[in-house]
Amino acid sequence: PRPILLTRHGESKDNVRGRIGGDTAVSDRGEVYAKKLANFVEKRLKSERAASIWTSTLQRTILTASPIVGFPKIQWRALDEINAGVCDGMSYEEIKKNMPEEYEARKKDKLRYRYPRGESYLDVIQRLEPVIIELERQRAPVVVISHQAVLRALYAYFADRPLREIPHIEVPLHAIIEIQMGVTGVQEKRYKLMD
Ligand code: G3H
Repeated sequence: PRPILLTRHGESKDNVRGRIGGDTAVSDRGEVYAKKLANFVEKRLKSERAASIWTSTLQRTILTASPIVGFPKIQWRALDEINAGVCDGMSYEEIKKNMPEEYEARKKDKLRYRYPRGESYLDVIQRLEPVIIELERQRAPVVVISHQAVLRALYAYFADRPLREIPHIEVPLHAIIEIQMGVTGVQEKRYKLMD
């Protein structure tokens, strides 16, 4: 059975400032994670010649992948973070203060809520379909370096979790979720590489 390794990008500068969206680089801590991840991937996929690394088109995932050598890297726009539309670059506090109706609407129905000029979780789930088809087709291991909302949806697909849970699944920074698809079903392991 071939593993699929799911991980978020290393901490970004916007993560540190508490801002959503954006396209900032990783922080110093994020860089440390990128090195640890490269180390882990090198060991875990040592004899897996056909393995590949998939990232989004955003800097923070590309930078997180950069210390990994020896495997092809593919950028997918479909792996980009949920588009927060007019809220891109804001903190949750700012949204609550400046756009209280939006904040409340999202709280009420996080799965269906669509950011003005942006996306909902349902939109993200839909755009992930080609990624999932391609992941299912792969014979070799894949490392997916993406973002919280996207990984919630991908994880839910493989772990067979219901739609309504997706926006609330915990996908911590600096950890790897390993999914193994075998004949007896899906197995999961988690590795926390740092805080
Ligand atoms: O920037 C977006 C976050 O990673 C998604 O988190 O859907 O819980 O607001 P949220």
